[in-house]
Amino acid sequence: AKAAMDAGLHAPSSSAMLSQDDLKKIAAYKAVEYVESGMVLGLGTGSTARHAVDRIGQLLRQGKLKDIVGIPTSMKTHDQALSLGIPLSDLDAHPVVDLAIDGADEVDPFLNLVKGRGGSLLREKMVEGACKKFVVIVDDSKLVNFLGGSGLAMPVEVIRFCWKFTAARLQKLFEDAGCVAKLRTGEKEEPFVTDNGNYIVDLYFEGSIGDLKAASDAILQLAGVVEHGMFLDMATTVIIAGELGLTVKNK
Ligand code: 5RP
Repeated sequence: AKAAMDAGLHAPSSSAMLSQDDLKKIAAYKAVEYVESGMVLGLGTGSTARHAVDRIGQLLRQGKLKDIVGIPTSMKTHDQALSLGIPLSDLDAHPVVDLAIDGADEVDPFLNLVKGRGGSLLREKMVEGACKKFVVIVDDSKLVNFLGGSGLAMPVEVIRFCWKFTAARLQKLFEDAGCVAKLRTGEKEEPFVTDNGNYIVDLYFEGSIGDLKAASDAILQLAGVVEHGMFLDMATTVIIAGELGLTVKNK
Protein backbone atom coordinates (compact mmCIF):
# COMPACT_ATOMS: atom_id res chain seq x y z
CA ALA A 1 0.00 0.00 0.00
CA LYS A 2 2.87 2.38 0.80
CA ALA A 3 4.47 1.64 -2.57
CA ALA A 4 1.19 2.52 -4.30
CA MET A 5 1.00 5.82 -2.41
CA ASP A 6 4.67 6.55 -3.24
CA ALA A 7 3.91 6.16 -6.93
CA GLY A 8 0.80 8.33 -6.71
CA LEU A 9 -1.54 5.39 -7.36
CA HIS A 10 -4.61 4.48 -5.37
CA ALA A 11 -3.83 1.80 -2.82
CA PRO A 12 -6.37 -1.08 -3.10
CA SER A 13 -7.15 -0.68 0.63
CA SER A 14 -4.97 0.01 3.59
CA SER A 15 -4.91 -3.63 4.66
CA ALA A 16 -4.84 -5.31 1.22
CA MET A 17 -1.65 -7.07 0.19
CA LEU A 18 -0.26 -5.87 -3.11
CA SER A 19 0.13 -8.51 -5.80
CA GLN A 20 3.38 -8.89 -7.72
CA ASP A 21 1.63 -7.29 -10.69
CA ASP A 22 0.60 -4.30 -8.54
CA LEU A 23 4.26 -3.84 -7.59
CA LYS A 24 5.34 -4.03 -11.25
CA LYS A 25 2.77 -1.38 -12.14
CA ILE A 26 3.86 0.88 -9.28
CA ALA A 27 7.53 0.71 -10.38
CA ALA A 28 6.50 1.31 -14.02
CA TYR A 29 4.33 4.36 -13.24
CA LYS A 30 7.14 5.85 -11.17
CA ALA A 31 9.59 5.40 -14.08
CA VAL A 32 7.23 7.16 -16.48
CA GLU A 33 7.60 10.26 -14.31
CA TYR A 34 11.07 10.55 -15.91
CA VAL A 35 9.52 10.90 -19.37
CA GLU A 36 9.33 14.39 -20.87
CA SER A 37 7.67 15.65 -24.03
CA GLY A 38 9.89 15.50 -27.11
CA MET A 39 11.89 12.50 -25.93
CA VAL A 40 13.03 9.51 -27.97
CA LEU A 41 12.06 6.60 -25.73
CA GLY A 42 13.28 3.01 -25.59
CA LEU A 43 10.24 0.85 -24.86
CA GLY A 44 11.07 -2.32 -22.94
CA THR A 45 9.54 -5.77 -23.07
CA GLY A 46 7.84 -7.96 -20.46
CA SER A 47 5.06 -7.82 -17.91
CA THR A 48 6.62 -4.86 -16.03
CA ALA A 49 7.60 -2.78 -19.06
CA ARG A 50 4.11 -3.38 -20.45
CA HIS A 51 2.66 -1.20 -17.66
CA ALA A 52 5.10 1.61 -18.54
CA VAL A 53 4.10 1.48 -22.23
CA ASP A 54 0.41 1.54 -21.25
CA ARG A 55 1.02 4.57 -19.05
CA ILE A 56 2.93 6.43 -21.80
CA GLY A 57 0.02 5.75 -24.19
CA GLN A 58 -2.43 7.05 -21.59
CA LEU A 59 -0.46 10.28 -20.99
CA LEU A 60 -0.20 10.85 -24.75
CA ARG A 61 -3.95 10.41 -25.15
CA GLN A 62 -4.57 12.83 -22.31
CA GLY A 63 -2.26 15.37 -23.98
CA LYS A 64 0.05 15.38 -20.94
CA LEU A 65 2.95 14.16 -23.11
CA LYS A 66 3.66 15.37 -26.65
CA ASP A 67 6.03 14.58 -29.52
CA ILE A 68 7.24 11.25 -28.13
CA VAL A 69 8.95 8.76 -30.41
CA GLY A 70 9.10 5.17 -29.15
CA ILE A 71 11.71 2.59 -30.13
CA PRO A 72 10.31 -0.84 -29.25
CA THR A 73 12.61 -3.63 -28.07
CA SER A 74 10.45 -6.47 -29.42
CA MET A 75 7.65 -7.19 -31.85
CA LYS A 76 5.32 -7.65 -28.89
CA THR A 77 6.06 -4.15 -27.59
CA HIS A 78 5.89 -2.81 -31.15
CA ASP A 79 2.34 -4.17 -31.46
CA GLN A 80 1.31 -2.90 -28.02
CA ALA A 81 2.71 0.60 -28.68
CA LEU A 82 1.09 0.72 -32.10
CA SER A 83 -2.30 -0.19 -30.62
CA LEU A 84 -1.89 2.68 -28.13
CA GLY A 85 -1.07 5.19 -30.87
CA ILE A 86 2.53 5.78 -29.72
CA PRO A 87 4.57 7.03 -32.74
CA LEU A 88 7.33 4.51 -33.46
CA SER A 89 10.78 4.63 -35.00
CA ASP A 90 14.05 2.69 -34.88
CA LEU A 91 17.75 3.13 -34.13
CA ASP A 92 18.57 3.76 -37.79
CA ALA A 93 16.48 6.93 -37.72
CA HIS A 94 17.17 7.77 -34.04
CA PRO A 95 20.61 6.47 -33.05
CA VAL A 96 20.50 8.35 -29.73
CA VAL A 97 17.75 7.43 -27.30
CA ASP A 98 16.97 9.86 -24.46
CA LEU A 99 15.53 7.36 -22.01
CA ALA A 100 14.73 3.66 -21.97
CA ILE A 101 12.45 1.96 -19.44
CA ASP A 102 12.55 -1.82 -19.09
CA GLY A 103 12.20 -4.66 -16.61
CA ALA A 104 14.87 -7.16 -15.59
CA ASP A 105 15.07 -10.72 -14.35
CA GLU A 106 17.84 -10.14 -11.81
CA VAL A 107 19.45 -7.01 -10.35
CA ASP A 108 22.68 -7.28 -8.33
CA PRO A 109 23.90 -4.74 -5.74
CA PHE A 110 25.99 -2.96 -8.42
CA LEU A 111 22.92 -2.60 -10.70
CA ASN A 112 24.17 -5.22 -13.15
CA LEU A 113 21.27 -7.13 -14.66
CA VAL A 114 20.19 -10.40 -16.15
CA LYS A 115 17.60 -9.85 -18.85
CA GLY A 116 16.05 -11.90 -21.60
CA ARG A 117 13.87 -14.48 -19.90
CA GLY A 118 11.23 -12.97 -22.17
CA GLY A 119 13.56 -13.63 -25.10
CA SER A 120 14.10 -10.03 -26.25
CA LEU A 121 17.62 -9.48 -24.96
CA LEU A 122 19.29 -8.62 -28.28
CA ARG A 123 17.02 -5.72 -29.27
CA GLU A 124 16.89 -4.63 -25.62
CA LYS A 125 20.67 -4.49 -25.44
CA MET A 126 20.89 -2.54 -28.71
CA VAL A 127 18.28 0.04 -27.69
CA GLU A 128 19.34 0.31 -24.04
CA GLY A 129 22.99 0.52 -25.04
CA ALA A 130 22.13 3.57 -27.16
CA CYS A 131 20.29 5.50 -24.47
CA LYS A 132 21.44 8.37 -22.28
CA LYS A 133 19.41 7.15 -19.31
CA PHE A 134 18.27 3.57 -18.68
CA VAL A 135 15.65 3.17 -15.95
CA VAL A 136 15.05 -0.40 -14.81
CA ILE A 137 11.77 -1.29 -13.12
CA VAL A 138 11.39 -4.33 -10.89
CA ASP A 139 9.50 -5.73 -7.95
CA ASP A 140 11.76 -6.72 -5.08
CA SER A 141 11.72 -10.45 -6.01
CA LYS A 142 14.28 -9.60 -8.73
CA LEU A 143 17.03 -8.54 -6.30
CA VAL A 144 19.95 -11.00 -6.03
CA ASN A 145 23.32 -10.94 -4.27
CA PHE A 146 25.09 -12.01 -7.47
CA LEU A 147 23.98 -12.60 -11.07
CA GLY A 148 22.83 -16.17 -11.66
CA GLY A 149 21.93 -16.18 -7.95
CA SER A 150 18.20 -16.74 -8.42
CA GLY A 151 18.80 -20.26 -9.75
CA LEU A 152 16.91 -19.21 -12.89
CA ALA A 153 18.28 -18.94 -16.42
CA MET A 154 20.91 -16.63 -17.85
CA PRO A 155 19.85 -16.51 -21.51
CA VAL A 156 22.17 -16.52 -24.51
CA GLU A 157 20.86 -15.87 -28.04
CA VAL A 158 22.55 -18.21 -30.53
CA ILE A 159 22.19 -18.82 -34.23
CA ARG A 160 20.27 -21.97 -35.17
CA PHE A 161 23.13 -23.50 -37.14
CA CYS A 162 24.66 -26.25 -34.96
CA TRP A 163 23.11 -24.82 -31.79
CA LYS A 164 23.99 -28.03 -29.90
CA PHE A 165 27.66 -27.41 -30.61
CA THR A 166 27.34 -23.83 -29.31
CA ALA A 167 25.37 -24.96 -26.23
CA ALA A 168 28.05 -27.54 -25.41
CA ARG A 169 30.78 -24.91 -25.72
CA LEU A 170 28.84 -22.52 -23.47
CA GLN A 171 28.39 -25.22 -20.85
CA LYS A 172 32.07 -26.11 -21.02
CA LEU A 173 33.07 -22.45 -20.47
CA PHE A 174 31.40 -22.50 -17.05
CA GLU A 175 31.87 -26.12 -15.99
CA ASP A 176 33.56 -25.00 -12.75
CA ALA A 177 30.35 -23.15 -11.82
CA GLY A 178 28.28 -26.32 -12.46
CA CYS A 179 26.69 -24.75 -15.53
CA VAL A 180 23.96 -26.61 -17.42
CA ALA A 181 23.00 -25.27 -20.89
CA LYS A 182 19.46 -25.97 -22.16
CA LEU A 183 17.70 -24.98 -25.36
CA ARG A 184 14.64 -22.86 -24.55
CA THR A 185 11.48 -24.55 -25.78
CA GLY A 186 7.77 -23.77 -25.95
CA GLU A 187 4.72 -25.68 -24.77
CA LYS A 188 5.07 -28.44 -27.37
CA GLU A 189 8.83 -28.75 -26.85
CA GLU A 190 9.40 -26.77 -30.06
CA PRO A 191 12.43 -24.43 -29.95
CA PHE A 192 11.62 -20.88 -28.87
CA VAL A 193 12.47 -18.55 -31.78
CA THR A 194 13.44 -14.93 -31.08
CA ASP A 195 12.23 -11.89 -33.07
CA ASN A 196 15.55 -12.17 -34.91
CA GLY A 197 14.98 -15.78 -35.97
CA ASN A 198 17.51 -17.20 -33.50
CA TYR A 199 17.34 -19.70 -30.62
CA ILE A 200 17.93 -19.11 -26.91
CA VAL A 201 20.23 -21.32 -24.85
CA ASP A 202 19.53 -20.86 -21.14
CA LEU A 203 22.48 -21.26 -18.77
CA TYR A 204 21.79 -22.49 -15.23
CA PHE A 205 24.54 -22.05 -12.65
CA GLU A 206 25.09 -23.98 -9.44
CA GLY A 207 27.61 -21.49 -8.15
CA SER A 208 28.57 -17.94 -8.99
CA ILE A 209 29.35 -16.91 -12.58
CA GLY A 210 32.52 -15.31 -11.18
CA ASP A 211 34.09 -12.34 -12.93
CA LEU A 212 31.16 -10.98 -14.96
CA LYS A 213 33.21 -9.02 -17.49
CA ALA A 214 35.43 -12.06 -18.15
CA ALA A 215 32.33 -14.25 -18.50
CA SER A 216 30.76 -11.77 -20.92
CA ASP A 217 33.90 -11.60 -23.07
CA ALA A 218 34.25 -15.39 -23.14
CA ILE A 219 30.62 -15.90 -24.21
CA LEU A 220 30.82 -13.26 -26.94
CA GLN A 221 33.97 -14.86 -28.36
CA LEU A 222 32.08 -18.03 -29.32
CA ALA A 223 31.25 -17.77 -33.01
CA GLY A 224 27.68 -19.13 -32.76
CA VAL A 225 26.68 -16.63 -30.06
CA VAL A 226 24.76 -13.50 -31.01
CA GLU A 227 24.37 -11.87 -27.55
CA HIS A 228 23.88 -12.74 -23.89
CA GLY A 229 21.52 -11.49 -21.19
CA MET A 230 24.05 -9.96 -18.78
CA PHE A 231 23.60 -6.18 -18.91
CA LEU A 232 26.74 -4.97 -17.15
CA ASP A 233 27.10 -1.36 -16.10
CA MET A 234 24.16 -0.27 -18.28
CA ALA A 235 21.39 0.69 -15.84
CA THR A 236 21.56 4.29 -14.65
CA THR A 237 18.57 3.99 -12.29
CA VAL A 238 16.75 1.02 -10.79
CA ILE A 239 13.27 1.48 -9.31
CA ILE A 240 12.31 -1.31 -6.92
CA ALA A 241 8.76 -1.74 -5.66
CA GLY A 242 8.15 -3.77 -2.52
CA GLU A 243 5.46 -4.03 0.15
CA LEU A 244 7.29 -1.42 2.20
CA GLY A 245 7.48 1.18 -0.57
CA LEU A 246 9.58 2.30 -3.49
CA THR A 247 13.37 2.39 -3.53
CA VAL A 248 15.25 4.29 -6.24
CA LYS A 249 18.90 3.39 -6.76
CA ASN A 250 21.09 5.54 -9.00
CA LYS A 251 24.40 4.59 -10.52
C1 5RP B 1 12.59 -9.66 -21.72
C2 5RP B 1 13.20 -9.08 -20.49
C3 5RP B 1 12.27 -8.63 -19.42
O1 5RP B 1 12.51 -7.30 -19.13
C4 5RP B 1 12.51 -9.47 -18.21
O2 5RP B 1 12.35 -10.81 -18.58
C5 5RP B 1 11.55 -9.10 -17.08
O3 5RP B 1 10.26 -9.48 -17.44
P1 5RP B 1 9.04 -9.27 -16.47
O4 5RP B 1 8.87 -7.80 -16.32
O5 5RP B 1 7.89 -9.92 -17.18
O6 5RP B 1 9.35 -9.95 -15.17
O7 5RP B 1 14.38 -8.96 -20.34
O8 5RP B 1 13.57 -10.09 -22.61
